[in-house]
Amino acid sequence: MKMPEVLISEQDLARRISELAAEIERDYDGEGREASDPLVCVGILTGSVFFMVDLLEKVKFLPVVIDFFQTTSYRGGTSPGEVRIRKDLDTAIRGRDVLLIEDIVDTGYTLRTILDLLRFRGAKSVRLCSLLNKERARQVPVPIDYKGFDIDDVFVVGYGLDYDGLYRNLPYIGVLDGEDVGE
Ligand code: IMP
Repeated sequence: MKMPEVLISEQDLARRISELAAEIERDYDGEGREASDPLVCVGILTGSVFFMVDLLEKVKFLPVVIDFFQTTSYRGGTSPGEVRIRKDLDTAIRGRDVLLIEDIVDTGYTLRTILDLLRFRGAKSVRLCSLLNKERARQVPVPIDYKGFDIDDVFVVGYGLDYDGLYRNLPYIGVLDGEDVGE
């Protein structure tokens, strides 16, 4: 299999993720926070899993609980931007601080839907941490509180991100050339 060209190396990912973890720990009062009031960290399956594990491993003192959403979106067709929830949270989030952890914000429809839902359910606060941001692809506004890297509007794979289910286990973020993605 031809390997995708490196866009963000393993070393650069590790360095930036350590910085994000330190920021999160500081902002949520890591050591001072009671175990009775943990930060609810919510990953969006499946792409965010690699990032979430590495990020939370580096958050040393902050008490956290973790949970997941799984979504599907319908691109093209009659309902552009319609996002459906395939797996909902098991955790009640009313009155709690929630940190959403996502691999990439592209059009913004997925995150916009989930942010609105969590606020509607009465979370005390909802912030977003995304490893990657494709600002130029945005269709709806989504504020990113903790952002790893801005990238151009190119299709990327690796470190959790897939093309047709493949490449999630690449240790870096890579770009497939046009031929590989059927352009
Ligand atoms: P959005 O709703 O358009 O912001 O899309 C978010 C989801 O689309 C992400 O969680 C990814 O699963 C997927 N996605 C968007 N851009 C890429 C990409 O470049 N590579 C792989 N998946 C992507």
